[in-house]
Amino acid sequence: MMIATRLTLLRRSKALLGAFLIPGLLLSLPSNHAVAAGQKTKSISAAEVSPETIQLYKDNCGDCHGANRTGAMGPALLPENLSRLRMKKAVDVIKNGRAATQMPAFSQQLDDKQISALASYVFSKPDVAPTWTEKDIQASHIVYHSKGTLPDKPKFEADLKNLFIVVELEDHSATLLNGDTFEPINRFKTRFALHGGPKYSPDGRYVYFASRDGWVSKYDIYNMTFVAEIRAAINTRNLAISKDGKYAMVANYLPQTLVLLDTADLKPVKVFNVTSDQGQPSRVSAVYTAPPRNSFIAALKDLKEVWEIPYDQPELNVRKITVDDYLDDFFFDQSYKHLIGASRDSKDGQVIDLDLGKKIKTIDLAGMPHLGSGITWEYKGRTVMATPNLKDGQVSVIDMNTWEVIKRIETKGPGFFMRSHSNSKYAWVDVFFGPNKDLMHVINKETLEIEKTLQPIPGKTAAHIEFTKDGSHALMSIWDKDGALIVYDADTLEEVKRLPMKKPSGKYNVHNKTTYASGTSH
Ligand code: HEC
Repeated sequence: MMIATRLTLLRRSKALLGAFLIPGLLLSLPSNHAVAAGQKTKSISAAEVSPETIQLYKDNCGDCHGANRTGAMGPALLPENLSRLRMKKAVDVIKNGRAATQMPAFSQQLDDKQISALASYVFSKPDVAPTWTEKDIQASHIVYHSKGTLPDKPKFEADLKNLFIVVELEDHSATLLNGDTFEPINRFKTRFALHGGPKYSPDGRYVYFASRDGWVSKYDIYNMTFVAEIRAAINTRNLAISKDGKYAMVANYLPQTLVLLDTADLKPVKVFNVTSDQGQPSRVSAVYTAPPRNSFIAALKDLKEVWEIPYDQPELNVRKITVDDYLDDFFFDQSYKHLIGASRDSKDGQVIDLDLGKKIKTIDLAGMPHLGSGITWEYKGRTVMATPNLKDGQVSVIDMNTWEVIKRIETKGPGFFMRSHSNSKYAWVDVFFGPNKDLMHVINKETLEIEKTLQPIPGKTAAHIEFTKDGSHALMSIWDKDGALIVYDADTLEEVKRLPMKKPSGKYNVHNKTTYASGTSH
């Protein structure tokens, strides 16, 4: 993940991007504008906020957003949670409300000065960091249907391994899609601002969502209903599911924890405070599942460590691997013996041997590789991995034996997601950033050349491909308020179908995800 020695502008965009650089997950990209402009709202300290403003907040906002801004019926209003929102947008939301939501307009009650003071307040850092204890986690737990009480037979007819969940960011919804007919089966509301990509249970019956504000929701696809929810933190990055399906691990920024849940009903099992042996705490950028190792692996934002937590041992001890740099964007080889991490401020990739617990190689990667959406395939008898680049218009292709970059494929701009399928001769990469964001490249995996460049809707971002189970079709997101899901024949590259959707972001195929297919992020 989700910018090198480089310019301030890039640093700033990285700060923004940080939130999104999670494999598979990428639910929550910011608008292109925000990223392109590298804008970040300057945070003041809550001590600089006047008592009148705090009182205004208490009187007008606290009931819905929580007295200490940690969220209630409305979302949390803390700098960590608002990193995607620009100050101007915040002022606009407070003034005019948000159509079709419970967020009211305050332009009648409050004047411009009060509104702008409130907007600064919600971006201010609290003097005392809000807490979210094990007790708070437990108290938030909701079980709608306890385990075993709902029918095991799906309420619909479809190939259960070829279903997709499509996340639609605009109105906080998700669509369950039939991957054979491309007909929606159900569309449902999710928690506010999903983050990090939903994850399936190994049998594909359940899907787990994490939201920006720390809510973890378990959805029964067969019965098309939520079965349990819990709030694991105040600000969350993503979640991962263990190979045996028994555990969910949740990675958080606020508080700085990893929270292990029992997937049966999402009851908390253990809260890990993420702190070095010297007592320095760290935010968790992302957590990954390493199926052959029966472990979770966490990327830390503020410590030069990688944490591995084996869940097949009752002690649930943390194995800490010390690394040379802050690594917060990971890729794993198919055996999960090697972790490839991108260092935060240099252009290198580092290969860590997870068995030895140390770095074995530095990969020379220019720009800012997005390893989290790297993929692998067989090329001339060897395994290669390819990764898009968040800063430069290029895709790096790396030999996974020698860890040498064997090719840099020039693209029309920085990309975010890359996908393929073992049955397809193509790898798709988007141009997520810059003036060419409406383009999508299709790379020939045998020649390592761009075979075709698509421009489905001029001016609208084309992003994130996911294949059907058999690899015959590729589904693309038109990442826009009035967006669409476009289905392509993966061989002829002809459009087959177009479904209108509201800012569709990621889409997740049950088969590809539960088999940890090489063409998709895990
Ligand atoms: C009746 C409940 C309610 C009240 C009162 C309320 N809000 Fe909201 N607010 C919401 C909800 C719900 C949302 C999420 C809307 C959506 O789905 O986009 C929201 C969204 C917001 C957002 C955008 C957050 C984001 O991440 O996009 C801001 C900023 C905000 N409110 C500030 C305020 C302030 C400041 C006040 C007091 C002056 C206030 N709200 C009062 C319910 C409320």
